Amino acid sequence: MTTEIPVDQGWIDYAEKQKYERMKNNTGFVSTNLRVLDDLLDLRKFITEKTDHYIKDYMQYLVDGGTYVTTSWINKHHKLDYAPPHRHGNSILSGVYYLKTPKDSGVIQFHKPDGIEYLSPTFNFIPKESYTYNCDYYSFVPKEGMLIIFPSFLKHLVTSSQAHDIRYSIAFNTFIKGSFGDDVNFIELA
Ligand SMILES: [Fe+2]
Repeated sequence: MTTEIPVDQGWIDYAEKQKYERMKNNTGFVSTNLRVLDDLLDLRKFITEKTDHYIKDYMQYLVDGGTYVTTSWINKHHKLDYAPPHRHGNSILSGVYYLKTPKDSGVIQFHKPDGIEYLSPTFNFIPKESYTYNCDYYSFVPKEGMLIIFPSFLKHLVTSSQAHDIRYSIAFNTFIKGSFGDDVNFIELA
C-alpha cells in the first residue's frame, strides 16, 4: 500500500544530523539510532494511523487493538549504494518513508513470495500490462513524501543509486496488540 505524507523540513534536518555507520554488507549507511521514530513523534503518529488502516480497512481484519512501531532507522545511500534482497524479521508490517529521493537514486522492487502462483506454474504467460496479480516482481519509483507499507515477510530490494546527491529514507517495523483468533488459536498480545 502506498500513501503520501508531506515531508517536514525538520525531519530532513534530523536525518542529516544523525550518526551513520556502513552496513556490514557494505551496501549503504544506516543510522546508529534504531528508534528514530521515537524522536519524530508526529511522523510516527501518521505512520501508525496508516499501518492500522492497512490492517483494519484494507485487509478488513477485526482487531480490537492496533499496530505500533518497534524499530525504525534511516537508510542513507550514496552513489552506487543499494539494498540486496531481504525480508524484515519479528515484524507484522514494515514500511519505508522517503525523505530525499534525488533522480535515479534507485527503485524499490517487491518480489512474489516463493511457492505462490497466480494461475499456473507451468505456463509462461507474458502480461500485456504488469500489475500486482500477474508479475514476478513489482517496482515503485520512490518520491519524496511517499510511504510504502508492506507485509514484513515480503522480499524486496533497492536498486543501485546512480545519483550524486544523497538519498534518505526512514524504514520501520511494527508489531500488533490486541486479541486475535478463536478457540485453540486465540491469543492476546499486550
Ligand atoms: Fe527493507
